[in-house]
Amino acid sequence: MTAPLRADPAIVKVALGGRGYDIVIGRGLIASLGVRVAALRPGAKAAIVTDENVARYHLPAVEAALAAAGVAVSRVTVPAGESSKSFRLFEQLSEAIIAARIERGDLIVALGGGVAGDLAGFVASAVRRGLDYVQVPTTLLAQVDSSVGGKTAINSAHGKNLIGAFHQPILVVADTATLDTLPPREFCAGYAEVAKYALLGDTAFFSWLEANWRDVFGGGSSAREHAIAVSCRAKAAIVARDERETGERALLNLGHTFGHALEAACGFSDRLLHGEAVAAGMALAFGFSARQGLIPAAEAERAIRHLAEVGLPTTLQDIPGGLPGVEALMDLIAQDKKVKRGMPTFILVRGIGAAFVENGVDQNEVRAFLSEKLAAK
Ligand SMILES: NC(=O)c1ccc[n+]([C@@H]2O[C@H](COP(=O)([O-])OP(=O)(O)OC[C@H]3O[C@@H](n4cnc5c(N)ncnc54)[C@H](O)[C@@H]3O)[C@@H](O)[C@H]2O)c1
Repeated sequence: MTAPLRADPAIVKVALGGRGYDIVIGRGLIASLGVRVAALRPGAKAAIVTDENVARYHLPAVEAALAAAGVAVSRVTVPAGESSKSFRLFEQLSEAIIAARIERGDLIVALGGGVAGDLAGFVASAVRRGLDYVQVPTTLLAQVDSSVGGKTAINSAHGKNLIGAFHQPILVVADTATLDTLPPREFCAGYAEVAKYALLGDTAFFSWLEANWRDVFGGGSSAREHAIAVSCRAKAAIVARDERETGERALLNLGHTFGHALEAACGFSDRLLHGEAVAAGMALAFGFSARQGLIPAAEAERAIRHLAEVGLPTTLQDIPGGLPGVEALMDLIAQDKKVKRGMPTFILVRGIGAAFVENGVDQNEVRAFLSEKLAAK
């Protein structure tokens, strides 16, 4: 059943001066994409970059909306999945954009999840020394996280997201109707990032999620749009204060130090999606913080209970296929790109909504904690 069109989309502003932009959130917004693009860049041509899954469901509507507003359109489709964030696809896509005669003053429209957005954004940062681009995110993860804040990247043989640029989009249009076609597991994984904003800095939002998560998952009411708007507002505020992650933006990595090691241990495969790894990582960050006496055990349990209730993995035993031993996990943590002078950065918590950056975590404490978690039944 399709929910009714809502009249007023939510608009979240990313306050970055001349590089500032709007995130527009609402159901059915793709229909207005052409008008919005034409208003921002009159006369510009647009190259849509998408993946083959998203193309099947949403490319015709995006093309039609742009064409109806008089925007000349070309399109490039890349294979779905993380492997498209590669040098090979970066080259192919860059050449295709140049061949389509996208010039300075024209733009790229990134239509898809974090993979299409990160790849197209990086191409936009580089081709002709920088093109404008618009994000049209179609996964929950992309709507609340990857489309906002200007981090773009491809992967290196040495690890994920190691080659990239900060390049802000000029507009983000999050049409929540696109989530209707998203596989439920992908939606659930994206919800981990929604919960992340609550857990790192917004106790009231966490209580709201505990009461309303079923409506967020179900759609059909305004709960989903509300959760996305609150998440984007949280990210936009942090990005406006610390665009290049010299300080506070690191809080957005809550769950990522443990989570990244788990993702790497699973070979960045479908065994553990990025959002699932973040959920398990956040559960570990709360558990570790409780073990260190930073947060009452009952409060850590409350956070973990919510993640488990919505269906996200919260224990090492929840991860299918088995994990390597504690030393291998410690090695993976040490290889994280957030390591500073040999010390991994952890985001720990003093409460729900009270995360902080810790660079001086005792590695033996982490080792002992992970050994306990690996041994747990
Ligand atoms: N730039 C950032 O700040 C940032 C932040 C978080 C994550 N990321 C990156 O985002 C990526 C993960 O993003 P993701 O979870 O969106 O993955 P994704 O882009 O791979 O999308 C997940 C799957 O859903 C499909 N899909 C997307 N939208 C759909 C729709 N509406 N209907 C049906 N299928 C759809 C895709 O084809 C893909 O198979 C990772 O590469 C991660 O590094 C970037």
